[in-house]
Amino acid sequence: MYRLTDAQKAKVKDLLSQMTLEEKIGQMNQESVSIVGGFDVPFEELIEMMTDGRISQEEFEKIMSTAEQDYHEDDIRAGRVGSLMVQEPEKANELQKIAVEESRLGIPLMFGLDVIHGFRTVYPIAIAEAGAFDPDLFQRTASMAAKESRTQGVNWHFAPMLDVARDARWGRVSEGPGEDPYLVSQFAKAKIKGLQGDMSSTENYVAACLKHYVAYGACESGRDYNTVSMANSMLYNAYLPPFKAAVEAGAATVMASFNDLNGVPCTVNEFTLRQILKNGYKFPGFVVSDANAIRECVNHGIAADEPEAGVQAAIAGMDVDMGTQIYKNTLQEAVESGKVPMSVIDDAVERILSVKMWLGLFDHPYVPEEAMHRYDTLPTEHTDLAREAAEKSIVLLKNEGQILPLNKSQKISLVGQLADSREEVIGAWAMSWREKDCVSIREGLENVGAEYKYFPCCGPETDINEDEVAQACAYGDVIVAVVGELDSMSGEASSKADISLPGKQRELLAKLLATGKPVVAVLMNGRPLALKWEAEHVPAILECWHLGVQMGNAVANVLMGVKAPEGKLASSFPAVTGMCPIYYNHPNTGRPGGRSKFTSRYLDAGFESLYPFGYGLTYTTFAYDNMTVAETKDALHITVDVANTGGRAGVETVQLYMQDVTASIVRPVKELKGFAKVALDAGEKKQVSLTLEKKDMGFYKDSGEYVLENGKFCVYVGGNSKDCLMEEVELAF
Ligand code: BGC
Repeated sequence: MYRLTDAQKAKVKDLLSQMTLEEKIGQMNQESVSIVGGFDVPFEELIEMMTDGRISQEEFEKIMSTAEQDYHEDDIRAGRVGSLMVQEPEKANELQKIAVEESRLGIPLMFGLDVIHGFRTVYPIAIAEAGAFDPDLFQRTASMAAKESRTQGVNWHFAPMLDVARDARWGRVSEGPGEDPYLVSQFAKAKIKGLQGDMSSTENYVAACLKHYVAYGACESGRDYNTVSMANSMLYNAYLPPFKAAVEAGAATVMASFNDLNGVPCTVNEFTLRQILKNGYKFPGFVVSDANAIRECVNHGIAADEPEAGVQAAIAGMDVDMGTQIYKNTLQEAVESGKVPMSVIDDAVERILSVKMWLGLFDHPYVPEEAMHRYDTLPTEHTDLAREAAEKSIVLLKNEGQILPLNKSQKISLVGQLADSREEVIGAWAMSWREKDCVSIREGLENVGAEYKYFPCCGPETDINEDEVAQACAYGDVIVAVVGELDSMSGEASSKADISLPGKQRELLAKLLATGKPVVAVLMNGRPLALKWEAEHVPAILECWHLGVQMGNAVANVLMGVKAPEGKLASSFPAVTGMCPIYYNHPNTGRPGGRSKFTSRYLDAGFESLYPFGYGLTYTTFAYDNMTVAETKDALHITVDVANTGGRAGVETVQLYMQDVTASIVRPVKELKGFAKVALDAGEKKQVSLTLEKKDMGFYKDSGEYVLENGKFCVYVGGNSKDCLMEEVELAF
């Protein structure tokens, strides 16, 4: 929990009173790294050169790999830098020494990094991990990442990413925990606890950074960085709740998003930054811009030039400038000429110093020598946790004829280039993993002792090798085809207009199916895919996402039945791309989708997702019965009997939804309000209890006012957002 003692607060005030304006602005500057060595331009400019085509991505990567990184040591010495992005402990200590020992006031630097789903021990991408519906797991993986990164000098994670995302064309759906505000909020709270909660030693926690604030996930047509227009009621009800929950859980920092929201870029948005976040939620930490975003306000066309963008950002409540140096170069003049009040600067710097104080950086600025090599070999508890997270994130989408689990007497043809890759198990936005720690699916099958042969055949971007296909078809009793996306196909700047299986992989599946042998599609991907054809033709489909370093072992364990799948979808899957955005908790229409033509539907795709939010099968089946709803003064108490009706043990995620049937604004057809995981042996039945507090049954109006309105409500319980038992209640609050 980010909170300072009175003594720490007094120290911050005292320090602030000694600072010059230049030193204060220095704290607001997150210095960029200059790339020198034949190419003496700032990093951001290099990115721009690649973006506008002056250099190719290959040239960019070449420059980056050969370049020396210059960290502007003189600026650090002069107190003109507050934070940096570094991930080598020796470098961090070297730069920290300059800040602490050679700058006038000795204020330590913060070192930030994108540690989105693990540092060395990479665990599943967020959209996958969210599907485990397991806050305790979310917390444990975050805590592991905090501990690992801090040994390398990183004390600030640009995570958790809390963008509610409902359009799978947007590549960044991979980085976030899905489409549902409640699930994303549970994820948010658990991640804050994991990253910031263990303050028993400064080696155990980091500052979290909630991003991207706000509504970035609603970018128009799923195209990254695109404009966002939405009613304030939608903003308050769907996109803000995870941020509010995380602020209440004590998050230390927030990153503003690139997009404009109703015409105002979030970088300079006084309404979202000051009115809602700082004044409304009483957020005590600091806000950082996204990379280069202050400069991009000129591109947005709302600032004439860089100095004006800097003024707008500072006034709106943007405390730290990531990477443009606009604050460093122009804010002093803006303050001296009265464009930016000194109180704005003091408020920002007090927030920044407070986070540094809370991180313990004034007392423990350096990475201790003995910590630096702690994770040269990953400890077993870390790989065990990564495997547990990976296993729990796998979602069984289809299992016709109970093809899965496989058994050791079956000969398996393992197909697909993705199956033999250690790199592709990682997924987007992981920066500190090592190949030696990764387990490919092929290695996983080897480890579990399966009888298999491997045939690459085809990958997301390569042609089909007919010989290998023929061999694969001839060898196995069963064919396991690993198909999907490269990790570079999701993440930032990776939006797609067609989210069906890329390349020739569908053709590959068709060839394998033509043998008449059972085929299992193991999907490896960073976004929901449009799987209409696969759902119609392939008998067994296992959604495995990018699961991190232990992916191979986890997938093999689930395929072979060592572990039964228990993941659920945190994001709806469309049948075809044109259905995007698609999400279960949509507002009702006057003509809800149905069979007749004049309803809200597509002529060629209907109106329902192929696989809905919350959906996921396992190797047994569950039945729901005897739902009851009892009202007390403050809550509804719901019980339901869940029975394991199959022949194996299994874990079910029981989900609680509600619908406000009559309200003063149109409300979602269903909203998740709780969940519980229950383990059942074959034939076992348990009563599951869930509570819905009445205070959580309201909604925000356009004004931002939260209201509870009397009337009819439907309460639903089930194993996914579509198939539920339902009871009606009439409530007067
Ligand atoms: C991304 C952020 C990230 C930042 C720093 C930006 O391009 O949008 O999510 O934290 O870079 O790496």
